[in-house]
Amino acid sequence: PKQNVNVNTIQMKSYACQRRTPLKHHNSHLTEALEVLSENAAYGENEGRSVAFRRAASVLKALPYRVQTMDELKCLPCLGDHSQRVIKEILEDGTSREVESMRQSEQFQAMKALTGIFGVGVRTADRWFREGLRSPSDLIRTGQQLNREQQAGVLYYDELNKPVTKHEADLIGDIVKEAVSAVLPGAEIQLMGGFRRGKELGHDVDFLITHPEEGKEEELMPKIISWLEERDLLLYQKTTRNSYLEKKDAPGRPPNNMDRFERCFSIFKLQGHAETTGSDGVRPSNQSEASYWRAVRVDLVVSPYSQFAFATLGWTGSKLFERDLRRWAGQEKHMSLSSHALYDSVQRCYVRAQSEEEIFEYLGLEFIPPCERNA
Ligand code: GTP
Ligand code: MN
Ligand code: MN
Repeated sequence: PKQNVNVNTIQMKSYACQRRTPLKHHNSHLTEALEVLSENAAYGENEGRSVAFRRAASVLKALPYRVQTMDELKCLPCLGDHSQRVIKEILEDGTSREVESMRQSEQFQAMKALTGIFGVGVRTADRWFREGLRSPSDLIRTGQQLNREQQAGVLYYDELNKPVTKHEADLIGDIVKEAVSAVLPGAEIQLMGGFRRGKELGHDVDFLITHPEEGKEEELMPKIISWLEERDLLLYQKTTRNSYLEKKDAPGRPPNNMDRFERCFSIFKLQGHAETTGSDGVRPSNQSEASYWRAVRVDLVVSPYSQFAFATLGWTGSKLFERDLRRWAGQEKHMSLSSHALYDSVQRCYVRAQSEEEIFEYLGLEFIPPCERNA
């Protein structure tokens, strides 16, 4: 049932930032398979291939109907031969043998388990895999050298791999708000990342913090961290200072993916609440009432007020949406977009913006609200 959608009149734009991509869509049976291929390519450090499969999946997420026949894909962009082959297999047989055997393979599962450790990237995971290691417990058993981040990652492995709920994100939001207003009254804080896009579950919780009086936000992070640490609310934190300088970072230089805001990668110790109990409602036996908590990954970012709109846009995601925003700016508009600024290479000037709407407008894009940026 196509619910009055004529498949031949669908105009699918090729940049993700030109499309509306809702969180819930009609083709997860196809997109999940394509995302396995993307993940596997990433494990092999083939970034181009990985992005290509992710793009293919993303196009299907934006379709207003469930794909039934290959014919319906004729006019869609970003679907390479390999993606089409896999889609065809799934439409005909219900599953793709290639994808299923990949998913089951020892290498895929080990890479998933190892890169699932906080602080472990593909390079390290691959080296461990070639040394015969398969899981976090193998790392402990063989006494691998781990940095501080990875030690925390192994220690809290199970909890950090358990999705964070919106409710937990809100509880953490309350704590961060309290910390921020205690150390800098008047500061503003905003929930970012997947939760801003309307997700119910996430792998972490992302916050952006600013203050309407430019300059007041400087060196704010260490104060927030001290406030949290004094109350025993952090299990791990690594803060990096703001290193952004307009003159040095642009123009000309391609905007780096990593931004330079003062930021903190952390693991919160979220004190007892109902959702940490098991499905039977029984509290895990190793935790007494008093010490009842779970570990949650939290990213904190501090932005100067003048860059807040860019930071908001840059930290809302999804990653593919962000990637295509930058690609659109560069390839179609001769501008360079980062989470700090927009530079117009034709006019040779920085573009100021107070809101996401203004940035979309300057980029010549229709405004896409956060809940439709789930590309
Ligand atoms: P989950 O956390 O898995 O639910 O999804 P998410 O979309 O929230 O992903 P994540 O927390 O990894 O990232 C949130 C947003 O912040 C995404 O748009 C990322 O592109 C962006 N982001 C993450 N790290 C950086 C960074 O170092 N610099 C910049 N500029 N953006 C980043
Ligand atoms: Mn996130
Ligand atoms: Mn994050």
